[in-house]
Amino acid sequence: MKNDATNLLLNDSPTHVAIIMDGNGRWATREKKSVIEGHRRGAENAKALTRKALQLGIRYLTLYTFSSENWLRPAGWVEQLMQLLRYYLQQEASDIFKDKICLRVIGDRTRLPADILSVIESLEQQTAGNTQMTLIIALSYGSRDEIVQAVQRITQAVTAGQLSPEAIDAEQVQAHLYTTGIPDPDLLIRTGGDRRISNFLLWQLAYSELLFVDKLWPDFNETNFVEALQDYASRERRFGASFGAYNER
Ligand code: IPE
Ligand code: IPE
Ligand code: MG
Repeated sequence: MKNDATNLLLNDSPTHVAIIMDGNGRWATREKKSVIEGHRRGAENAKALTRKALQLGIRYLTLYTFSSENWLRPAGWVEQLMQLLRYYLQQEASDIFKDKICLRVIGDRTRLPADILSVIESLEQQTAGNTQMTLIIALSYGSRDEIVQAVQRITQAVTAGQLSPEAIDAEQVQAHLYTTGIPDPDLLIRTGGDRRISNFLLWQLAYSELLFVDKLWPDFNETNFVEALQDYASRERRFGASFGAYNER
C-alpha cells in the first residue's frame, strides 16, 4: 500500500503543506538563462503545484515567495521580482483563484509597492468565501518580524488594560501571528538542497515534519510533490507525548 499514492493520500494526507521554494537562481545558472527566467519558471511551477494540491484535497498550502531578508538583495533584482509578481497576480490569478481558492498573504505589507498591495487586498476580498483550499503566500515575510509585531500588539493590549500579563499564553501569541486561524503546517518541504529554515514560520513549525530535497524549485514536479506526501504519510508523529516504540515498557 505504501507505494500507492492515491490510497495514502486518501488516508493520511497533510492538512497543511508549507514550501520554501528555493533554487530558482541556481536553476537559471545551470540552464544558462537569465535570473528572472529562473523565477518565471519557479512561478509557473508554483501555479502547477497549487493546482495539484487542490486536486489532492490539501486544505492549506503556504508558499514562501519573498522573505524580509530578500529586500537586501540588489534593487534591480527586487524590482524584476516585483514585476513578475504583478504579472502573476493580475494576469494569472483570476483562473486559479476562481471559486475554489481563498488567498491569504502573510508578511510585512507596509514594504510592498502600493499597486501590488491593492491587487492583493482585492484578491483576498474576492476569494474570502472560497472554502476548498486556502493558499497562503508569504511575501515580505520574516518569522522574527511576525513574532515581534505579535509581542508589540499584546503589550499594547496589556498597557491598555485589556489583557493581564498572566493571561498571555501560547493561544494568545498564536492569535496575534499573521497566521491566526490557520492550523500549523504538517509538512514543510524545502527544495534547493539547503537544510535550513531561513526565518520561515519559526513558531508554527514546532512539530512539523521537515523534508529537504535537493531538486531546484523549477525542477520539483508533480511526481516529486506526490513523493513528498508519501514520505510524510510514512512518518510517525509523536508530538513529544507518546513513548512510541517504548509504549510497552
Ligand atoms: C528562491 O530563489 C526564491 C526567492 C528567494 C525569491 P533564489 O533566488 O534564492 O534561488 P537560489 O537559492 O539563489 O538558487
Ligand atoms: C528562502 O530562500 C526564501 C524564499 C524561498 C522566498 P533564500 O534563498 O532567501 O534563503 P537563504 O538565503 O539561502 O537562507
Ligand atoms: Mg535561495
